[in-house]
Amino acid sequence: MANEITVDNLFFRYHEQSPYVLNDISLTVKQGEWLTILGHNGSGKSTLAKFFNALNVPSKGDVVACGINTKTADEWINIRRNVAMVFQNPDNQIVAPTVEDDVAFGLENAGVPYEDMRDRVYNSINKLGLSGLEKQEPHRLSGGQKQRVALAGALALRPRVLVLDEATSMLDPTGRKEVLSILEKLRVEENISIIMITHDVTEALLSDRIIILAEGSIVHEGVPNQIFTDEASLGKVGLRAPFIVQIANELRRHDVPLPEGVLSHEELVSSLCKYKPIA
Ligand SMILES: Nc1ncnc2c1ncn2[C@@H]1O[C@H](COP(=O)(O)OP(=O)(O)OP(=O)(O)O)[C@@H](O)[C@H]1O
Ligand SMILES: [Mg+2]
Repeated sequence: MANEITVDNLFFRYHEQSPYVLNDISLTVKQGEWLTILGHNGSGKSTLAKFFNALNVPSKGDVVACGINTKTADEWINIRRNVAMVFQNPDNQIVAPTVEDDVAFGLENAGVPYEDMRDRVYNSINKLGLSGLEKQEPHRLSGGQKQRVALAGALALRPRVLVLDEATSMLDPTGRKEVLSILEKLRVEENISIIMITHDVTEALLSDRIIILAEGSIVHEGVPNQIFTDEASLGKVGLRAPFIVQIANELRRHDVPLPEGVLSHEELVSSLCKYKPIA
């Protein structure tokens, strides 16, 4: 499967004299893959995210997004059409007086012809479950609805990659669940690659692969099961496994022979129901 994002030996610092914020980062993201980037505050996650759509451009190393090297300034608009970003605070992303205008805003910037815009806007609004709210003023919506408006705007661009920088962190559990289930659907139905930056280890369970950043370097990379069963390594970078995985790990330490890959409540219950302790 094709790589949608390739980062090769990327180094980055904000100022000539300051230390590197990203140190020799190399990674790939395949089509339809969901990658989570975890790391403590200041580890470089947001800085890295901005390289995926040429908001930051490498001075040392290379980033190729959807087949285009991000150093090619003429292609930045094209790259940003293919790699859409959604940020943490929905209030900072809403720019227009109505939901439909807001969803259309990115399309105007991307130079999408007017006759295609209508279809794209309504299709995106519908996909995000916002039908009926087209004429609403975005600031009257709930946090979850606002973040869905931001997502609708990003998706109207029909991106190949969606980058979410803590895009669910300001939502309540219901809003968060709504957004995550939409993302899952998009990935399955449209084969979009998702790069999710989060502090929430439970959200990371939804991904195919996890990268952990610490002080600007990739310190761990693997599937969720690998990453979360190694609690000692997680602890060293200030993270804890999701609660269910912690319980499963603790039970294993007490000789309960749980299979590998118990990542959800359902999997834990079903494994325990099969367990017959030796009398
Ligand atoms: N515009 C900037 N100018 C100078 N330094 C910056 C700038 N933005 C970020 N930094 C520094 O770069 C480092 C990485 O910051 P970054 O925002 O990428 O971390 P993060 O992992 O996203 O953190 P958080 O979890 O708090 O969002 C930090 O030391 C930060 O102070
Ligand atoms: Mg950040």
